[in-house]
Amino acid sequence: MSNRFTGIVFCAIFAIVFTQCQDMSNETETMAAPELYQERHRPQVHFSPKEKWMNDPNGMVFFEGEYHLFYQYYPDSTVWGPMHWGHAISTDLVHWEHLPIALYPDSLGYIFSGSAVVDWKNTSGFGSEENPPLIAIFTYHDMEGERAKTSTFQSQAIAYSNDKGRTWIKYEGNPVIPNPGIRDFRDPKVIWDENSEQWVMVFAAQDQVKIYGSKDLKEWQHLSDFGKEYGSHAGVWECPDLFPLYLEEEDKTYWVLLLSINPGGPNGGSATQYFIGDFDGKRFTLDDRFQPQVDKMESGEEQAVWLDYGRDNYAGVTWSDIPEEDGRRIFIGWMSNWDYARLVPTEAWRSAMTLPRNLTLEATESGPRLRQAWVREVDKLEIESKTLANQTVEDTINLLTQAQEEAVEARLKLQFRSISAGITSFGIMLVSAQEDYYTLGYDASKQHFFSDRRSAGDHSFSEKFASAIHTAPYKLKGEEMDFDIIIDRSSVELLAANGAVALTDLVFPKMDFHKIIFFTDDGSVEVSGTISPLQSIW
Ligand code: FRU
Repeated sequence: MSNRFTGIVFCAIFAIVFTQCQDMSNETETMAAPELYQERHRPQVHFSPKEKWMNDPNGMVFFEGEYHLFYQYYPDSTVWGPMHWGHAISTDLVHWEHLPIALYPDSLGYIFSGSAVVDWKNTSGFGSEENPPLIAIFTYHDMEGERAKTSTFQSQAIAYSNDKGRTWIKYEGNPVIPNPGIRDFRDPKVIWDENSEQWVMVFAAQDQVKIYGSKDLKEWQHLSDFGKEYGSHAGVWECPDLFPLYLEEEDKTYWVLLLSINPGGPNGGSATQYFIGDFDGKRFTLDDRFQPQVDKMESGEEQAVWLDYGRDNYAGVTWSDIPEEDGRRIFIGWMSNWDYARLVPTEAWRSAMTLPRNLTLEATESGPRLRQAWVREVDKLEIESKTLANQTVEDTINLLTQAQEEAVEARLKLQFRSISAGITSFGIMLVSAQEDYYTLGYDASKQHFFSDRRSAGDHSFSEKFASAIHTAPYKLKGEEMDFDIIIDRSSVELLAANGAVALTDLVFPKMDFHKIIFFTDDGSVEVSGTISPLQSIW
């Protein structure tokens, strides 16, 4: 790789130089002071807390024009501690306004991950049908119980808000699901199931998910369990999500179960797997074509279908109550990994979320599979989009060069055609003035995407951060391929092959990346597309 880097510096063929133009028209009142959000490595287009520690996204719900994003938050330190729910809102999923902390720990414990719903019919009685309450469903984690080595220290609880999520009252009858003696018993996600006319809660219980039903969000009945014999069990199960998704090609609605696992991800540490099947109001069952992909008993080895092959997309779930006329299933994940989250080289804050993604289903030879795309609201961050006219590339091309002190925050939509037979690999490199370089591409000989951050900047903080190249298996079909990439100050997210493959990785270049270079090894491709610098959301 270092040979390639030397080559690039001396043999750039084309250079398309952009001056970054500040369009101030998109500024909102929610914009923070400029010095804040200008810190080293601070994401410019991704949500991050103003300061201190953040992990999982929680309680995502849409209500009265606002997308709520709560999150695991520790306001006193940049490492994990007593968990609160931090809170932000947005009207467009990309610009965020910080609100005061929504839920504080209390005598029952820390406030762990969970979800929120609009109780439209006021089934809980906490509001009225005219003014439906928001209900947050979360896990209490009782530290004293944990220290005393009991196995009953996690339980499910609820809180409600009658003022659009601004203030919350915890239910006096908490917990609503006490712990029956299972050490890991957490992360409730609640949906209203139209068919069975009840609230359905799914949460993680060690090596499986538990499914409960309720008419009023307060009294819950155990309905079923799923997962002990399926999927990867290389770590503990966390943060499930269960939702229906319509597949147009088959005119059929499937049910999708997202499930985060730590450790045991395809490239190490935390990652999210998923299952596709049916839910009958009681039980989740796997689709026949999906089962062989994740059947642990039959194969005797771990098998899973992964949502994202990068190292930095964890504990992601989807928004509740997106209006029917919108109809999207919008996902956001925590852009870090428990392997090194507390060590990453940021000072004022720790961690960001992925950009929101719209999940859809596509029919494949092995049955339905998830597809991911950036929500359309991301488009409006694009400034000065440039069309990249079709050109043939052998070796390298400079796609974008900024002045050394100007960072590249950009979206690249690239179409590759005429991929030559026998080509080894092609893709992009991000380069900094300090000769950090990050490589992201497709290796046709090995039939996988790859992300290589081993020389992309600081990785001294953890041996686990850049110990290997991250890969995502994919068989090239024909001679074409597409990449849709979002580059921010300390992350790169790739959606490729029409959203079939996702790969999200953090990177901490010593100086900001200021060059994007396209490369091929042992062959040529034609490339066209658009390159759009992105405007900061802050
Ligand atoms: C996942 C997780 C959850 C838990 C939360 C605690 O990252 O471990 O299972 O609720 O973080 O902060």
